[in-house]
Amino acid sequence: MSDFHKRTWLITGASSGLGKSLALEALSKGHRVLGTTREIQKAQHSFPEFEVNGGTWLSLDPGNPVAHEMATNIFAAHNIDVLVNNAGYAFIGGVEDTSEDEVRSQMEVNFYGPLRLIRAALPNMRSKRSGNIVLISSGAGFTARPGRAAYSASKFAIEAIHESLSDEIETFGIKVLIVEPGAFRTPFASRIITPAQYRSNGGFSQAYQGTSVEKMVRGMSDTTGMPGWLKGDPQKAAKAILDAVENGHEYLRMPLGADCVTALESKMNSLQRDFDLTRAVANSTGVDS
Ligand SMILES: NC(=O)c1ccc[n+]([C@@H]2O[C@H](COP(=O)([O-])OP(=O)(O)OC[C@H]3O[C@@H](n4cnc5c(N)ncnc54)[C@H](OP(=O)(O)O)[C@@H]3O)[C@@H](O)[C@H]2O)c1
Repeated sequence: MSDFHKRTWLITGASSGLGKSLALEALSKGHRVLGTTREIQKAQHSFPEFEVNGGTWLSLDPGNPVAHEMATNIFAAHNIDVLVNNAGYAFIGGVEDTSEDEVRSQMEVNFYGPLRLIRAALPNMRSKRSGNIVLISSGAGFTARPGRAAYSASKFAIEAIHESLSDEIETFGIKVLIVEPGAFRTPFASRIITPAQYRSNGGFSQAYQGTSVEKMVRGMSDTTGMPGWLKGDPQKAAKAILDAVENGHEYLRMPLGADCVTALESKMNSLQRDFDLTRAVANSTGVDS
């Protein structure tokens, strides 16, 4: 690879899971990689290969409002070409069982976090008229299953920002990619948060016992070993993302994992069905001329 193609990547939440695999893949391709984490010492201990292979840790908590100012300083100090907003977690619980504060915390990390980084990255990327912005969203950013309302809301909302942004910044030569993974083998499931008020009951209230909420909460918080429903290989995901960024892509959304393909197809079919059933009434609501 020529030096021209060596680029500087900033990956949030690079200490674990998909961020870790992406960091290793980018380093192996000769890129410079800055990885953010909330706890550098912990990351150094759990992921020593990162620094051994040339990566640099930066301290940042995207979920903290000061992250915008901190990221602005990072972008001023380093000539970053590729921003990967990867850090995130899932809050799993029924709508009625979830407090407003729990939704707000989910939004701080999964919605405002990436937004803070994007707004810090754009001045530099615009002035050099190039750059890549990658969001690690989720299949949950396109389809909202029971028990995943807050998580899906955060991913739907941040996908909307990226969808608008992709048109707004195309003129500056900056590309946007939304990655929608299905279930991948990372420690993600072991970090799921459930409604505090009902945690002693397994994460759901009595009223939702036996419903789709109980099924989702129990299913997703079963973290004994590596749950069987995690079929995705993070290394293969990392390779696919690197390929898209390095070789260019003509699409905005990239689903990853056969489970995600099935879920997205099902959502598109249900959208089409609703559309077919409502097209006539939709077209009938204009003013009479
Ligand atoms: N694994 C899956 O099945 C899956 C599926 C769909 C989408 N995703 C998405 O993929 C991304 C990466 O997840 P992963 O699977 O790699 O999970 P992971 O192994 O738990 O890694 C998540 C990273 O995000 C950071 N993070 C976690 N909670 C945070 C919080 N409250 N505030 C700030 N940072 C936090 C952590 O960084 P530090 O602790 O180092 O700060 C960690 O490195 C997430 O956005 C997730 O929504 C994952």
